Amino acid sequence: NILILDFGSQVTQLIARRIREAGVYCEVMPFNTDPARLTAFAPKGIILSGGPASVTLEHTPRAPEWVYQQNVPILGICYGEQTICAQLGGKVEGGLHREFGRAEITVTGACSLFDGVWQIGQSYPVWMSHGDRVTALPPGFQVVATSENAPFAAIANEERRIYAVQFHPEVMHTPDGAHLLRRFVRDIAGCHGAWTMAGFREMMIERIRAQVGTEKVICGLSGGVDSSVAAVLIHAAIGDQLTCVFVDHGLLRTGEAEQVVTLFRDHYNIPLVHRDASALFLGELAGKTDPEVKRKTIGKLFIDVFEEEARKVGGAAFLAQGTLYPDVIESVSFTGGPSVTIKSHHNVGGLPERMNLKLVEPLRDLFKDEVRVLGRELGLPDSLVGRHPFPGPGLAIRLPGSEITRDKLDILRAADAVYLDEIRKAGFYDQIWQAFAVLLPVRTVGVMGDARTYDYACALRAVTSTDGMTADYFPFPHDFLGRVATRIINEVPGINRVSYDITSKPPGTIEWE
Ligand code: XMP
Repeated sequence: NILILDFGSQVTQLIARRIREAGVYCEVMPFNTDPARLTAFAPKGIILSGGPASVTLEHTPRAPEWVYQQNVPILGICYGEQTICAQLGGKVEGGLHREFGRAEITVTGACSLFDGVWQIGQSYPVWMSHGDRVTALPPGFQVVATSENAPFAAIANEERRIYAVQFHPEVMHTPDGAHLLRRFVRDIAGCHGAWTMAGFREMMIERIRAQVGTEKVICGLSGGVDSSVAAVLIHAAIGDQLTCVFVDHGLLRTGEAEQVVTLFRDHYNIPLVHRDASALFLGELAGKTDPEVKRKTIGKLFIDVFEEEARKVGGAAFLAQGTLYPDVIESVSFTGGPSVTIKSHHNVGGLPERMNLKLVEPLRDLFKDEVRVLGRELGLPDSLVGRHPFPGPGLAIRLPGSEITRDKLDILRAADAVYLDEIRKAGFYDQIWQAFAVLLPVRTVGVMGDARTYDYACALRAVTSTDGMTADYFPFPHDFLGRVATRIINEVPGINRVSYDITSKPPGTIEWE
């Protein structure tokens, strides 16, 4: 097992992820964790993460002395390198030579961290992000790599097995980074335990039991991957102390509500409250066409209805959420300064305080693709685990500029079902981040069977993305698009024109509203 001490970098969890990928168990703990807890964890290797502070200032974080007394290998990354230098007798200076982004480093000395990965005298691309830099080495250390702006880009004390790098090996833009981390944890620290998702599942089950005890937990199900995986995992841990609440706002796709209810009630036997609140939502949405007004109306009503149902269940002390690591970083990174609201996102934020509930968030350390692996491990069907993301406000934001009515929702659902059916048949589904139909508020003139039509136009959207933050349109072959258009116009009364949206994000967004 490996301990990662966190100094607040945006990418600390990526270190954890790379180590899991190397099949080794690790935990991230704050830099100021009580040494008694660190001792109990008994790591075979310690990684000090990057962080936003500057060791040149007093009162900024340092690694606990404990770290240097364990006689286990240590790897410092960025701020981690600087704190090692500052603590062991080297020197760090504030930056005239800031370095952000891609850089080249040249290996100048032998270092067991590089064995089998990098060679002396060669240069390699890495990702840097630092203002301060090391300017004098602590005793016993040697420089083993340099870059233009970081003469001490990598340093090592082979005798004490302490290594430190200024670059970030955990990010994708350091192509050999995963290899270096693997060397550190497996070959240098000697961790060979096979970390697997099955092991993670067992460990989380124990943790959830310890956290929840005999209390009751409620979990909001949306039909999406994250909340479903969280619910099934928690149920595996505490059985019927868990109740799921599924607020059906009537804005889901064809067959989705039934699928959720059948899967959870019949297949998993998880207590489930299914509240069909579609009439309530459609009533509140009547006459509303502005995107933010729609989003806020849905968000507020959703919380009200969820709270009502949760109170009926009664006695819950915990609210379970399928929060993922990217949700955590995004919300943290936005607290730093003023940011503009592009879209008011729909979630149950605020509810825990209102209802005085504590949170259970078993997926907080995972990335989406890891959650999918865990979902498969828990026996969730592929049709759910591999499902594209779906926005909280549902189909309401796929009727842009329009009032939401049952009729329009039915037309949209039918077109969406045809589109997804063709995507699956053609084998494109898993290459696409998200694909959906949008029903436009314009009607256009057409001719069908010698008669004039005057019906709605629909737009198709399909994007590739890794995190939803940036996206590009999916390059479907033209004959595929032609086939989908023909089917939609023939099979969906109310639509007589189909177009394909080729906007990337930015400047567009994935959803139209
Ligand atoms: P945009 O449209 O902002 O969407 O490019 C980025 C991703 O977020 C999804 N999305 C939402 N998800 N609640 C959610 O849970 C929301 O209110 C919401 N709005 C957009 C969108 O489908 C895409 O995956």
